[in-house]
Amino acid sequence: MRSIAILNQKGGVGKTTTAVNLSAALAATGQKILLIDLDPQAHATLHLGLHPATEQKSVYDVLTGDAMLPDVWQASGDNLHIVGSHIDLAAAEVELVGVVGREVILRDKLAAVAQDFDYVFIDCPPSLGILTLNALAAVDEVFLPLQPHFLALHGLSKLLQTIDLVSKRLNDRLKLSGVVYCMYESTTRLAAEVVSDVDQFLEATRKPSTPWADTRTFQTRIRRNIRLAEAPSFGQSIFHYAPHSNGAADYEQLAREIAAR
Ligand SMILES: Nc1ncnc2c1ncn2[C@@H]1O[C@H](COP(=O)(O)OP(=O)(O)OP(=O)(O)O)[C@@H](O)[C@H]1O
Ligand SMILES: [Mg+2]
Repeated sequence: MRSIAILNQKGGVGKTTTAVNLSAALAATGQKILLIDLDPQAHATLHLGLHPATEQKSVYDVLTGDAMLPDVWQASGDNLHIVGSHIDLAAAEVELVGVVGREVILRDKLAAVAQDFDYVFIDCPPSLGILTLNALAAVDEVFLPLQPHFLALHGLSKLLQTIDLVSKRLNDRLKLSGVVYCMYESTTRLAAEVVSDVDQFLEATRKPSTPWADTRTFQTRIRRNIRLAEAPSFGQSIFHYAPHSNGAADYEQLAREIAAR
């Protein structure tokens, strides 16, 4: 099983869009996928047409209670299961204070189902709190979605520092394996400049011992595509909502690139 957290503490860079559509693209190729929505905003849950209801158990019950992942996951089409989120998850941060081993709850529960899936994706919230630490302790890989924006580098060193600390203290398998550019506009010079700045930044801070020693930038760029922004309100992945769009083509190509690694 490959386990991948999709993380950037910056908001609105394409984490959820990538988590949902990459999951759907790989599921369509016959891979067994588990998508865990670890964001109290529950955007991935909504994107796949599930409605976060209070009576429905969610990832909140997995982190703060006795629920195991199979107790809460729901099927979303062939080969894709999702562990939904709920706004209650926002309280987990506080509720888990004082709980021994609070950073590794998800890791231990995920280990119990590792043989059931080919890929697990975790859609992280835009923060570096206890929820994100649970994701980083549980996975082997991080994908970093970036929007080629003049602030793309802002916060990147804090993010790398967090990944580095987790790799030293909680999870020595953790690697930043890939950078994926989202909402890419190939016609702008800014986009190309940001890509080269990020490459230089990673290169400059890279040491063999760092979790980004072998980070690669995916060749596939996810172009800005209005269909990708529309799909969530229909509760559908891009492959159901607009299978012939650029967005569908880009996520399909990204899935191929990831599967080939
Ligand atoms: N390639 C794209 N083209 C057009 N719109 C996009 C694209 N990718 C994402 N969006 C839109 O941009 C917004 C932010 O994307 P998304 O929700 O995936 O980001 P996020 O990083 O998960 O945000 P948050 O930090 O709030 O969780 C959404 O409205 C989404 O539909
Ligand atoms: Mg999101």
